[in-house]
Amino acid sequence: MAEHWFISGANRGIGHGLATLVAERGDDVTASVRSEKAREALQRDVARHRARFAIVSFDTRDEDAIRAAAKTVEEPIDVLVCNAGAYGPQSQSTLDMDFRGALDLFDVNTLGPLRVVQALLPHLRRAEKPRIVLISSGLGSTKTAGSTNIAYRAAKAALNKIAQGLAHDLERDGIIVVALNPGWVRTDMGGRNAELSVEESASGIVATIDALTPGDSGRFVDYRGEDTPW
Ligand SMILES: NC(=O)c1ccc[n+]([C@@H]2O[C@H](COP(=O)([O-])OP(=O)(O)OC[C@H]3O[C@@H](n4cnc5c(N)ncnc54)[C@H](OP(=O)(O)O)[C@@H]3O)[C@@H](O)[C@H]2O)c1
Repeated sequence: MAEHWFISGANRGIGHGLATLVAERGDDVTASVRSEKAREALQRDVARHRARFAIVSFDTRDEDAIRAAAKTVEEPIDVLVCNAGAYGPQSQSTLDMDFRGALDLFDVNTLGPLRVVQALLPHLRRAEKPRIVLISSGLGSTKTAGSTNIAYRAAKAALNKIAQGLAHDLERDGIIVVALNPGWVRTDMGGRNAELSVEESASGIVATIDALTPGDSGRFVDYRGEDTPW
C-alpha cells in the first residue's frame, strides 16, 4: 500500500534522490524546498510521476514557516525524513572558528530537524507505522577521528543526541525514530570524489526505512541498515 513520505530539502542531492525514488514506486510525497526557483524546478521534474507529489516551502530555521507548511498537509505522514542540512562556514576548525556561522549551522542542522518533527507530530501520530529519520553523518560519530569541519561534526553529533531523546519520548506513541548516516555521497555537499552516487545512497536509505521495526528505534543506522557507532 502506498505510504506518505515527507522529505525536507528535496530539490537536490540526497533528498531529491529519495523523493524521486519513492514517488517512482508510487508512494505519496510531500517535499520541502526553500525558494520559488527550487519549487518550480522540482515541480517540472516530478510532473512525470503518477504519485501524488506536493511541495511546501520553508527554511528549517523558520519555525513559523514550518508550522504554516504543516497546516497545508492533510494526510497522515508515515515516514518523515529530516534531510535538509548544510556544511557550514569556511572557517570551522577548533583553532579558527567562525562562531556566528557555526551557530547558524547548529540552527539548521541540529534544531532545524527538531522544529520539523515537532510541527509534524500530529500527522505522524495519525499514521499506522510512523517513522522519523534524522539524516545525520558518519562525521558526527564520536568514534570518527578527525577535526576538519568540527562545527559540522558537532552539529550532527548533537542531532544524534536529539534522535536518541526523541526515540525515548515517542516510544509510548509507537513512533520509530532513528539517526541515519547516508554514507559519503556525490552531491554538492559530498563533492565529486565521494564514494556513492545519490541513487546508491537513496535506494539503501529507502530499503533501510522500509525494514525498520519498533526494535530499531533509537539506533544510529547507515544506508545499508548497519549500525554506525554513536
Ligand atoms: N553528501 C554527503 O556525503 C553526506 C554525508 C553525510 C551526511 N549528509 C547529510 O545528508 C543531508 C543531505 O545532504 P546533501 O549531500 O544532499 O546536500 P546538498 O546537495 O547540499 O542539499 C542540501 C539540501 O538541504 C537544503 N537546505 C540547506 N539548508 C537549508 C535550510 N536552512 N532550510 C531548508 N533547507 C535547507 C538545500 O536547499 P537549497 O537548495 O535551498 O540550498 C538542499 O535541498 C544533509 O543533512 C547532510 O548533512 C550528506
